[in-house]
Amino acid sequence: MPVPGVSLGCDYNPEQWSPDVWREDVALMQQAGVGLVAVNIFGWSNLEPSPGKHHFDDLDEVLDLLHAGGIRVNLGTGTSSPPPWLSARHPEILPVAIDGTTRFPGGRQAWCPSSPVFRERTLDLVERVAQRYGNHPALALWHVSNELGCHNALCYCENSAVAFRTWLRDRYQSIEALNDAWGTSFWSQRYGDWDEIQTPRLALSLRNPGQLVDFQRFSSDELLGHYRAETAILRRNSSAPVTTNFMVTAHIRNLDYWSWAPEMDIVANDHYLDHRLGNPTAELSFAADLTRGLAGGRPWMLMEQAAGAVNWQPHNLAKAPGEMIRNSLTHVARGADSVCFFQWRASAQGAEKFHSALLPHAGTDTAAWRDVLRLSETLQRIGEVAGTAVVSDVALLFSWESWWSSEGEARPSQAVTYLGQVHATHRALRELGVTVDVVSPDADLSGYRLVVVPGLYMVGDAAAERITEYTRDGGHLLVTYFSGIVDERDRVRLGGYPGAFREVLGVLSEEFAPMPPGDEVRLSNGATATLWTERLRLAGAASVASGPDGTPAITRNEHGDGTAWYVATELDPRGMRDLVRNVITAAGVKAVGPETDGSVEVIRRTGEGRSYLFVINHGTTPVACPVAGYDLVTAEHITTVVGGGIAVIREEKA
Ligand code: GLA
Repeated sequence: MPVPGVSLGCDYNPEQWSPDVWREDVALMQQAGVGLVAVNIFGWSNLEPSPGKHHFDDLDEVLDLLHAGGIRVNLGTGTSSPPPWLSARHPEILPVAIDGTTRFPGGRQAWCPSSPVFRERTLDLVERVAQRYGNHPALALWHVSNELGCHNALCYCENSAVAFRTWLRDRYQSIEALNDAWGTSFWSQRYGDWDEIQTPRLALSLRNPGQLVDFQRFSSDELLGHYRAETAILRRNSSAPVTTNFMVTAHIRNLDYWSWAPEMDIVANDHYLDHRLGNPTAELSFAADLTRGLAGGRPWMLMEQAAGAVNWQPHNLAKAPGEMIRNSLTHVARGADSVCFFQWRASAQGAEKFHSALLPHAGTDTAAWRDVLRLSETLQRIGEVAGTAVVSDVALLFSWESWWSSEGEARPSQAVTYLGQVHATHRALRELGVTVDVVSPDADLSGYRLVVVPGLYMVGDAAAERITEYTRDGGHLLVTYFSGIVDERDRVRLGGYPGAFREVLGVLSEEFAPMPPGDEVRLSNGATATLWTERLRLAGAASVASGPDGTPAITRNEHGDGTAWYVATELDPRGMRDLVRNVITAAGVKAVGPETDGSVEVIRRTGEGRSYLFVINHGTTPVACPVAGYDLVTAEHITTVVGGGIAVIREEKA
C-alpha cells in the first residue's frame, strides 16, 4: 500500500482553484488526516496548453506543497481527457457511437481507444510527466488515465474497425475459423475476407451475437493495451507502483477486469452508491467482495467514493448521518486498506459542481466536515488491521463474458438480468451472515466448502470441468438458471439445458418457459417464483421443490463425493434465503455474523497472530456483538453496537 495503516485520501483538483486556496487546502488536509491525494487526473490542458508547449510550474508547486505538508501523491498521468486543441486538429480521435454518429468534445474522455494519433500524443505527455516526477519524493503511486472506458469503451469508428480486424486475425488466424466461431452461415453472413468485417454498429435487425461478444472482448483488450502502453513508460522512469481505478459497479460493464487485475501493482476501485438499485448497500458489499477477488485476496484501495450525494443519478440522495462512515468501514471490512474520495473540495464550476466532496461548499462548520474528521480518527484507530485478509469458505463465480453475452438482443426473457441473479445469491448469503469471495470461473475452487454459480450463461469447457471436478471431489455447488448454456463462442451446448452442468446437476431441461413479468407461482416448499421456469426433468437428482404442475424447480444431486443444487426459477428473496440456509448447513459453512435482513454485517479480517471482527449496524437499534471484546473504534470493551454504529473488535487468538 502506498501509505501505511488504513489511509484516507481523495482526488484533488487544484487547477480549479487559485494558489492561495492550495495552501489552505494543504492545511485542512493535514487537519483531516488526508494522507494521499490523486492529482493531475484531468491535467492535460494545463500541462500542454498548446501543442508541444508545456507548462509544469503549477504542478511542480502543488507537489512541493503537498510534500512539505507530509501528504503523499497518487499522480495521474493526466491523459484521461484530451485538451480541445487535440480534437480540433485531429477530429479523427473522436469516438463514434453505435449509430455511427460522432461524440464531440465538451464533456470528457472524447477519444477512441484505437486512435494512433491519440496514443502517440498521450505517450508523449506520459513520458514528460514520468521523467519530471518519477523520482519526486511525494510520489507514492501512479494513476494511469482515469476510469478507463467509463464513457468511451465501445468505439465504432473506422480506426476501431481496423484494430478489431487485427484483434480477430490474432484470435482466429483464418477467416474460416472466424466464420465457424460466429456461425455466419446464419442469415448469409459468411465473410470471404477480413476487410469485410465491421464494428457491430446498429443494424436493421438483430446482430450476430458471436460478433458482439468478440467486440466486447476486443474493446476491453484495446483499453488494457492503452494501460500497458502508459505503464511501460512509467516503469522505465520510476519505481513507484502503478494502478488505475476500476469501476466495479452495477451500471458499467465493458471491461473484463479478470484480465486487467494481474497487471495492477495495487487493485483500486471506484464505488458510488447507486440509488437506482433496489438495495444499494447490498450492492456495495458485493462490489467490495468482487474487488477483493480481483486483488487475489490481497488488500486493495477504494480509490473513489462520495462523501455525500453524487450528481449523476436522477435523484441524488444525501447520505444519512453516519452512512458515509458505515460505507467506508464496509469497504475496509471487505479488504480495503485505503479509503479515498472524489473529491477534496467541492467544485464551484463545471459539470460536477453539485457533487459532494470532503470539503463542502458550506465549508468546515458543517456536519459533513465533522463526519470527515470522525472518519479520519476512526481509520487511524483501526490502523492495525492493515495487511490482514478476509477469509471465506464460499466462492461466488462472476464473469463479465457471461454478463455481456447473456444479455444479448434476442434471449428467452428481457426481464432476466445477469446481475439480478448474481445479486440475489450474494444478498442471501450476506443476510445469512456469510462472507463470500467473488472469484473468476477459472479460479482454483479447491479450498471452498461451497461454490455458487449464478446465471453463468457462458462457460468454457475447462472451467465447467473444474467446477464438476470440484463437486465430484466433495464440494458443494449451487447453480442458478440460465447457466452453462453456451461455450465461449456463444454456441449452444446441445443435448438439453443446462448444457455444461447437466451431468453434475443430474437434470435435463427440455425447454425454457419464462413467465411474463408480474406473474408468480407458489412452489411446493412455499417459496414464490417469478420470471422463469423450465421443462425440467430429473436425471439422477432429487426434487427439492416443484411448481404447481409437479415440474421440479429446485433440485439436489449427489455427484461423486459432493452435492450439487439447481434452482430453475427466480425465487423471491425469502425463498432464496431459505434455500441458501439449507445449502450452507449441508455444506458445513459457518456464518460469521447473525442472520438478519441485511441490516447488520459482520466480517472477519485475520492475519498472522491477529484477528478482527467488523460489526456494521445499518439498523436503528443496538445489536449484540457475536463476540464481546475490545473495540478499536471506541477504545472500550463492548458487547453491543449502537444503531447506525460500527465496531472493530480485536479478537483474542486461541
Ligand atoms: C468518477 C470519476 C470522477 C468523478 C466521479 C463523480 O468516479 O473518476 O472524476 O467524475 O465519477 O462521481
